[in-house]
Amino acid sequence: MTTSKRRYHITTFGCQMNKADSERMAGILEDMGFEFSEDPNNADVILYNTCTIRDNAEQKVYSYLGRQAKRKHEQPNLTLVVAGCVAQQEGESLLRRVPELDLVMGPQHANRLKDLLESVFEGNQVVATEPVHIMEDITQPRRDSKVTAWVNVIYGCNERCTYCVVPNVRGVEQSRTPEAIRAEMEELGQQGYKEITLLGQNIDAYGRDLPGVTSEGRHLHTFTDLLYYVHDVPGIERLRFATSHPRYFTERLIKACAELPKVCEHFHIPFQSGDNEVLKAMARGYTHEKYRRIIDTIRRYMPDASISADAIVGFPGETEEQFENTLKLVDDIGFDQLNTAAYSPRPGTPAAWWTNQLSEEVKNDRLQRLNHLVNVKAAERSQRYFGRIEEVLVEDQNPKDKTQVMGRTRGNRLAFFTGDINELKGQLVKVKITEVRAFSLTGEPIEVRQAMPV
Ligand code: SAH
Ligand code: SF4
Ligand code: F3S
Repeated sequence: MTTSKRRYHITTFGCQMNKADSERMAGILEDMGFEFSEDPNNADVILYNTCTIRDNAEQKVYSYLGRQAKRKHEQPNLTLVVAGCVAQQEGESLLRRVPELDLVMGPQHANRLKDLLESVFEGNQVVATEPVHIMEDITQPRRDSKVTAWVNVIYGCNERCTYCVVPNVRGVEQSRTPEAIRAEMEELGQQGYKEITLLGQNIDAYGRDLPGVTSEGRHLHTFTDLLYYVHDVPGIERLRFATSHPRYFTERLIKACAELPKVCEHFHIPFQSGDNEVLKAMARGYTHEKYRRIIDTIRRYMPDASISADAIVGFPGETEEQFENTLKLVDDIGFDQLNTAAYSPRPGTPAAWWTNQLSEEVKNDRLQRLNHLVNVKAAERSQRYFGRIEEVLVEDQNPKDKTQVMGRTRGNRLAFFTGDINELKGQLVKVKITEVRAFSLTGEPIEVRQAMPV
């Protein structure tokens, strides 16, 4: 008699860190003999890797969970796991809310999934949320793409922005060693990956927790040094990184990006607000003038660099005039893309307690006004690509038009052109841009550049 393989399903919410963690956890599950199931209703282990950055992100998790918890009454062998930031935030109380859960595990425990599950299979209900030192993981992640990959460089965040749950749920900064990062990148290069995004919540903080200082008194391992150390990994054609914090973004880093050919001319530097009083209340540690200087410096070295950011509207006490300063910053800088959000009070953060909260109406109205401006500016910024030849790294078929492939330009704009994915996947193609939209481009292929042999 053959027994069919046990199956697992993962749904991922939230940011790139969660996506990277999910890929690692999927790798561990496959190592344990599980097979991926797209449909959660066919899976024996269901894992939700959760996000709690805003209330609506968290509520979404509960509605998914409710459905599966019900199913567990008919299928008692089903294993239900909540990982990620809601797990860390809620811990034990999640078990009281959803007693059907088998395992609640914070993001720092992603690498320990095998041990934790084994304990569950022995009949325990497990909560793993205590702070731990994150070990190097030896199992292979199951990566979603064969072309682009994430590589963590630093976990956690030591900032204390007054609106943000991340430090509570991701713990203190823990940098991986340059050697471990490079080793992972080399392996990716050998496996045929072409693009790597280095990840950290506050990537400029890289190395602060590693030992050693230089003769000038700066940390021996800064993010800039890391870029120099990894930029020539064979096979890798493009490097990106996120997220940068304006407080620590240095000219030295900008110079390195301009100098190192594989580093793409795209910078994601959240500013959150264009008003100095609001920035102060957020405890961001910079002014809008400093933010503008950073962008000016980037554009001095790389005039065509694309710039994206995150912004929050309706922070407690934000006046109409202060909000207009955000609009002004967006208008002046001209972002290629901006992730916008209405402020959402989060448990365990200082700003949630303040009495000067704004109404949902005001927050939504500001969000809409900001989004409108973002679209106008992005469309303007897109115009510069018209008629130009851009290098596109082909990632996939265009899901809406199978005769086309899609990929990204160095500036991180989505681009489409006619072609066969089987021939083009993972290729760098020179594309003449014939159509521009606010956030994407269409063009005609001119030339396929043969990637350098590994
Ligand atoms: N480390 C990054 C951001 C991580 S969170 C940084 O420092 O910029 C991603 C984005 O979510 C933030 O940039 C912010 O714009 C948004 N965000 C975080 N907390 C929020 C809250 N309480 N309400 C609304 N948006 C929030
Ligand atoms: Fe949150 Fe601030 Fe840390 Fe970013 S830098 S993760 S916004 S606390
Ligand atoms: Fe969300 Fe956690 Fe990322 S709260 S944004 S998944 S760090």
